[in-house]
Amino acid sequence: MTQRAFPSDFLWGSATSSYQIEGAAFADGRSESIWDRFCKQPGAILDQTNGDIACDHYNRYRDDVALMARLGLQAYRFSVAWPRVLPNGRGAINQAGLDFYRRLVDELLQHNIRPFVTLYHWDLPQILEDAGGWPERATAEAFVEYADVVSRALGDTVKDWITHNEPWCAGMLGYQIGEHAPGRKNWNDGLKASHHLLLSHGWAVDVIRRNVPQASVGITLNFTPAMPASRSTEDLNATRHFDGFFNRWFLDPVYGREYPADMVRDYTELGYLPNGLDFVHDGDFKAMAATTDFLGVNYYSRAVIHDPKTGTAPKLDSEYTDIGWEVYPQGLGDLLKRLAFAYNPGKIYVTENGASYNDGPDGHGEVNDTRRTQYLHDHLSVCSEAIAAGVPLAGYFVWSLMDNFEWAKGYSQRFGVIWVDYETQQRIPKASAHWYSRVVKANAVQP
Ligand code: NOJ
Repeated sequence: MTQRAFPSDFLWGSATSSYQIEGAAFADGRSESIWDRFCKQPGAILDQTNGDIACDHYNRYRDDVALMARLGLQAYRFSVAWPRVLPNGRGAINQAGLDFYRRLVDELLQHNIRPFVTLYHWDLPQILEDAGGWPERATAEAFVEYADVVSRALGDTVKDWITHNEPWCAGMLGYQIGEHAPGRKNWNDGLKASHHLLLSHGWAVDVIRRNVPQASVGITLNFTPAMPASRSTEDLNATRHFDGFFNRWFLDPVYGREYPADMVRDYTELGYLPNGLDFVHDGDFKAMAATTDFLGVNYYSRAVIHDPKTGTAPKLDSEYTDIGWEVYPQGLGDLLKRLAFAYNPGKIYVTENGASYNDGPDGHGEVNDTRRTQYLHDHLSVCSEAIAAGVPLAGYFVWSLMDNFEWAKGYSQRFGVIWVDYETQQRIPKASAHWYSRVVKANAVQP
């Protein structure tokens, strides 16, 4: 049978983040993060849980790395918890916290697994939120200090750096929609937070390059391609707006296009920018457009956009994952081509792609998550087509290595290719993990 082969240097990995897996929330001098605080708010987390223990990865990282190695994974994307490293947000370094990441990196390297470090995957030290959080420019300055400390400490062996993970989520879900920590609901705060996240990205790129010889630096953005439900003027306009809100507002400034003019107009008309772009200082757009080596792409699904003023949305004849997201592999292919050809990012990594299916162990202790395998198969096939079409896709990280704390959904959604029993902390590689392991080994997917 012919296979869809990947380039010989294609990188196969998995991804996680600190708050979602580490646990040990009070160990070795870690301070409170905005997620520790947010989880205590009644109603904030669907199952009223938190990341205090999560997958206890902080204590079990050796076993987890051994599991990755057994599966043959070549790369691992994880994030550093800022409150472990700088418990006061800036200033005094907590060596014990930093040492954990040194141990983790050493363990990965011993197993020939390439570490990709994400500096910010949403666990802001609460003390910085108390001082105003991301809507304050000072938080961007603090982030640069933090990036400096971590890149100095790990830069001798870690070459692959991601400044931010999904600034749309950190900025808009956290400060405008309020579904994520810190739970604020203000448009202007959301836009200011997003600005400072992007600005701190640009500043951090320079710092990382200074500290890390041969660094490869990028940012991970989340994309939801928007498609109109009909060709009506209203639906087309709503689609443009959604794309601007979700995708272009973050993508354009990173690639030197500043904020999209149509969105500045929309936000102004809607009253979201009462003082205009006063938070944009001279030189900010230049800083945000710092040259990067790659773009990290997180893709899960698409959005079909219908203007609610024009009646009810048409029903799609689609499949959905357990979290309710439509399965739409072609969206990833379209997205990769759009990014590659319209923004020329140099290199692209799919830094997250995966599915929430809650299948658990059967009577034999096996997890037959056939729908996840199908999902991964279909998305990887599309990746291989995109490469054939000229997209410089250099690697793929499945989300996630293991089931974990899914933010506002708590532990109710399982994205892992490894099952986690939260009572016993037992790990069971699911059928999808064994399948993925074969794909990695063959460097190919069956059509
Ligand atoms: C994106 C986020 O980076 C990750 O933390 C989250 O768990 C997955 N998407 C699934 O929602």
